[in-house]
Order: sequence, then structure tokens, then C-alpha cells
Amino acid sequence: MAGLLLLAAALAPAALAGNGGFAPVSPESPNAERIRDTWVFVSIFIVAIFVLVEVLLVTFIWRYRRQRRERFEDGPQIHGSTNIELMWTVAPVVILFLIGGFVFYKLPGIADVPSASASGEERLEVRVTGRQFYWQYEYPNGAVAIDTLRAPAGVPVRLEVSAPDEDVIHSWWIPALGGKIDVIPGVTTETWFETERPGIYDGQCAELCGLEHAKMLASVEVLPAAEFNAWLSGQESKPASVELGEEEWQGACAKCHGLAGEGGIAPRIAGSPVLTDPQALEEIVRNGRGEMPAVGSGWSEEQMDALIAYLRENPPSGS
Ligand code: CUA
Repeated sequence: MAGLLLLAAALAPAALAGNGGFAPVSPESPNAERIRDTWVFVSIFIVAIFVLVEVLLVTFIWRYRRQRRERFEDGPQIHGSTNIELMWTVAPVVILFLIGGFVFYKLPGIADVPSASASGEERLEVRVTGRQFYWQYEYPNGAVAIDTLRAPAGVPVRLEVSAPDEDVIHSWWIPALGGKIDVIPGVTTETWFETERPGIYDGQCAELCGLEHAKMLASVEVLPAAEFNAWLSGQESKPASVELGEEEWQGACAKCHGLAGEGGIAPRIAGSPVLTDPQALEEIVRNGRGEMPAVGSGWSEEQMDALIAYLRENPPSGS
């Protein structure tokens, strides 16, 4: 009895989450809604076919069981049934056409990026770069952010998604804001979202990309448009922003070296003179060394200065 109560208590939070983790998250963007609609439509056929097959299976097992027949005696031999043969040919063809038609009907609203919102608001363009093992976002005014993408509510956001030539394939995926899009070195793909509701939407790199793939989380923080615009224009006037430096440390360095530089899959670097020597730091971050990838190849001077400024003020303590 006590065990049952414990089990119920352990399961309650999952049940309260609405779907116990089995159904897709609630869509918050028109493209995500269409993906969910497609999932529901296809699921109707999947469930119906599953029930039909299982019911027939059990019925036949029961109905044609051996009963009092001799063990090695054959049952009645049945040949041909034009009606049944027609049915099992026509029904799948019709189902496949229905599913195909529905998908092609929904597809443009998933793939095509709207140029403006219903209220005429111009869309925002952001460059998303996937790298081992962080996400970098570049805004039209040159502002840069790592891992958390800030975006305005009620405005279509077009994402131009790519990876540096020397990197590997990643996959951008914020389930509530749309489907996965492959991030391929040297190739630019696009996706988009538009959501009315401010909040934080979590996602994850969805392509196994190396040792720290599981730490390659992504999130989108949707702010009311005015608040977003204030944040974005504020980024312009902060060339060596310690805030950006902290994001770079957490996103590009700490996933392997530890948040306090205590080491992880990569060596301990707390107390290393490289961290406070701007030239040595820039050299290793831009070019990598040994096993360490060139996490900061292609970074702007401002981005490098931001990391240098952050580490000067917050040298990792090692614990
Ligand atoms: Cu990047 Cu998995």
C-alpha cells in the first residue's frame, strides 16, 4: 500500500504535465501548429489500423483454433475473395492519398517564411550558427548572443541557419516553435517562427554532434516587442559587453572545461595564465589546440574582447 502511494506520488507530476510526455508540446507558432495538425491527422489512421489489425488477429486466433481437429490435420482451405482483395488494395491507396494530400496542403505554411505579421510588423532576420557545442545568434545591427535567442512577440522571425565549414552537422529544434532544421557546414537553410506569447521556449540540438551534444541546449526568450527593441539597441552601445563574455564562457568554454574551469571532458583551466593573457587566449580560442576545436574561429574583435573582459573580471576559481 505504502509502495503504491509512493508510486502515485512519483507519477503525479508527469501526469500533471498534461500528457505525461507522450504527446508533442503545445505549438506556439503557426508552423508548429501545422506540424501538430499533421501529426494528429496521421495518428488517426495509425491508431485505427492498429486497432483493426489487433482485433482481426485475436478474432482469427480464436475462431480458427484447432478445437477437436487432429493435431496434424489441415483446417479448411479458402481460396480467393474478390471483395476482400479489392478492399485491401483500395483502402491503403485511398489512405496514402489522403495523408499525402493533407501534408502537401499543410507544407507551405510550415516551410514558407511570412514577410510580415498580420498587423504589418516587419520580420526580424537572425543568423543562427551551430557549432560544437553552442549556438551563436547574430542580429541585423551586429549584436551577438550565445545559446539564448531573444526575440520579439508578434513579429515573424526568420532564421538563417548554418555551421562553419570545419564544423559538423547540428539540428536546430525548439519544439513549440516549429520543426527541426538541419544545420549543415557550408550550407545555409532557413526556418522561422512567430509567437504571440512572451516566455522561454526550450529546445535542444537534435543531431548527435559529438561528446557534448547533450549540453547543446537552445532556448528562445520571447519578449514584448518594445522590451526586445530596447534590449537590441542597448547591445549596440556595449562593444566589450561582459554580459556577452559570460554567455561565451558558459556556451563555448564551460561545457567542456567546467563552469568554474574545474575541468570536465576537457582539462582543468582554472588558474591558467592563458585566461588572463589576451593574446594567448585569442590564439587558442581562434585556432584551437590539440583536441580543442577552434571554438572562436570567425569571432569578431568585439566578441573576443567580450570574453577577455569577462575573464579579467571573473577569473574561474576552480570550484
Ligand atoms: Cu550540436 Cu548535437
